[in-house]
Amino acid sequence: MTTRQGHALPPLQTTGLSRSFSGFKAVDGMSLSLHKSELLGLIGPNGAGKTTMFNMLAGSLPSSSGSICIHGRDVTGQDARTRIGHGMGRSFQIPKPFPHMTVLENVLTGAQNQTGERLFGACFQPGRVRRDEHAAVEKARGLLDFLLLSHLEGQMAAVLSGGQRKLLELARLLMADPDILLLDEPAAGVNPSLLEQIMDRIVTLNTQHGKSILLIEHNMQMVGRLCSRVVVMAQGRELAQGRPDDVTRDPDVIRAYLGDAA
Ligand SMILES: Nc1ncnc2c1ncn2[C@@H]1O[C@H](COP(=O)(O)OP(=O)(O)O)[C@@H](O)[C@H]1O
Ligand SMILES: [Mg+2]
Repeated sequence: MTTRQGHALPPLQTTGLSRSFSGFKAVDGMSLSLHKSELLGLIGPNGAGKTTMFNMLAGSLPSSSGSICIHGRDVTGQDARTRIGHGMGRSFQIPKPFPHMTVLENVLTGAQNQTGERLFGACFQPGRVRRDEHAAVEKARGLLDFLLLSHLEGQMAAVLSGGQRKLLELARLLMADPDILLLDEPAAGVNPSLLEQIMDRIVTLNTQHGKSILLIEHNMQMVGRLCSRVVVMAQGRELAQGRPDDVTRDPDVIRAYLGDAA
């Protein structure tokens, strides 16, 4: 969607977004824009309100006030499923795949249309899989290939390592063809070799597939390598924004992180 002046509307924009829990302001007036094909970092000490922000953006938590627009469309009152339909995909800080379903079946649960729902049943009745469902299976296989999990396709998700679960989570959310990705700490608890692979896939999704990505991440080395701009949150508010090198030198940002360690 473009404005009358021809400017592309930001894929994701919040204005004065807030959320309180029993009077405690976890997110307090956050106005944030994610630009088209941008890889924007959202950082800040523990408890800053980052995950609460994601929960509101994804539609799993109602906001107390403020608004959320996807491609210029106000989605503030819409549920998570409707937002997925508008192109929003979200990964969780701690992925929880269905442990007793195969890796492939887990990816298929990410399909958002009727095919996806039928497939869920078809997984247990292979004879009933139809042509469009075969297409979904092929798509899921392509995503598993992209995310380096093909060799585990038939394994129960329970056997996956923490890092592999993060890759599976990405495959699952890509099944719905989102153009906006909200990634909550994709590097947390991931071993160094898998970390490189996850970073590489995120960069590919951004640069080659044009996905607009909002990334919560504690690993500052990763943020510095991936993001050209970061927004720093502390105590529910925006504390700073700019290039990673600049914000990490900002005395207010350093103080906020030291406070976290104290
Ligand atoms: N469901 C909830 N009920 C009460 N307090 C919450 C809830 N979710 C988050 N909080 C509080 O809101 C603050 C921000 O939490 P969170 O968004 O998880 O921070 P971050 O992801 O930046 O570490 C914390 O103080 C947390 O304890
Ligand atoms: Mg968090």
